[in-house]
Amino acid sequence: HFPSQVEIIEVGPRDGLQNEAVFVATEQKKQFIEKLAQVGFKRIETVSFVHPKAVPQMADAAEIAAFSAELGLTFLALTPNVKALTRATEKGVPQIAVFVGASETFNEKNIKRSIAKSLEECVEIFQLAKTHRLFIRGYVSMCFSCPYEGDISYEQVKRVVGHFVMHEVDEISIGDTNGQANPKIVYERFSQLKKDFPEATFVAHFHDTNGFAYANILAALQAGVTKFDSSVAGLGGCPFSPGATGNVATEKVVQLFHEMGIATGVNEEKLKEAVQFAKTLR
Ligand code: HMG
Ligand code: MG
Repeated sequence: HFPSQVEIIEVGPRDGLQNEAVFVATEQKKQFIEKLAQVGFKRIETVSFVHPKAVPQMADAAEIAAFSAELGLTFLALTPNVKALTRATEKGVPQIAVFVGASETFNEKNIKRSIAKSLEECVEIFQLAKTHRLFIRGYVSMCFSCPYEGDISYEQVKRVVGHFVMHEVDEISIGDTNGQANPKIVYERFSQLKKDFPEATFVAHFHDTNGFAYANILAALQAGVTKFDSSVAGLGGCPFSPGATGNVATEKVVQLFHEMGIATGVNEEKLKEAVQFAKTLR
């Protein structure tokens, strides 16, 4: 039994571009976002307020966020600490995302904090975000395995998810950050998460390192997930996850759903144009 519709959240301008070694000019980023805005996504993740030394590609975050707001987009911005949240609220960001690893080593490398410290800081971020009435996404990275630690247990994922649920985030994106998951573990993990946290809204976030991302999407769909992150032209990767390749490609995910008779709200012609444009950014 499949749902009649799903939501695809385009993450190309953030998760996609953050891994591009060469700086993409701010004007080009704006054109990219403008093209994506015509495709029919309900939401687009356009930016992250991280340290420009850690991710130089996001050095123009303030300008990109202001532009996204001017377009009238419902967009997501990554805000890993209070400073990031402050920068985001100044630019009219409507939806924020914190990100915490299920793997201790990855979290240390990515945001220079222990998981415990990150979870503590999230409480302050959530409180502030709620005073601004922002929609809150909690990302959990490395939910299946980790390039530094190997296999990640369900309990490790549950620890971070449980914290997000306790603090009433609006949705939780479960990331296969290094793209090593397979359909069996995806089905089992999402089924267990939905059983343990029946009130929570989960999003599946796959990277296609092994070519299993589309199979993993189906496994998540069968476990009852109806929200999926993807990136046009399969742009992306994580600079702190060696070997990981791009996100699952939006155009392939859309094709898969449409051929199965599942609505996405995406205009395929406009999507093609955005994919062509994305390819010029590499
Ligand atoms: P930090 O160095 O620990 O920060 O950075 P700090 O609080 O110790 O401050 C040090 C200096 O940084 C200070 O400046 C702060 O003002 C400044 P100084 O006083 O020395 O001049 N600073 C900032 N500047 C701009 N923006 C900020 C900010 N915060 C502090 N937000 C931080 C902590 C998290 C910011 C840093 O480690 C960082 O930016 N890391 C990058 C993390 C990142 O972008 N990772 C990739 C995204 S995660 C991902 O891809 C996975 C995901 O896609 C899911 C999946 O695929 O599964 C989400
Ligand atoms: Mg990612």
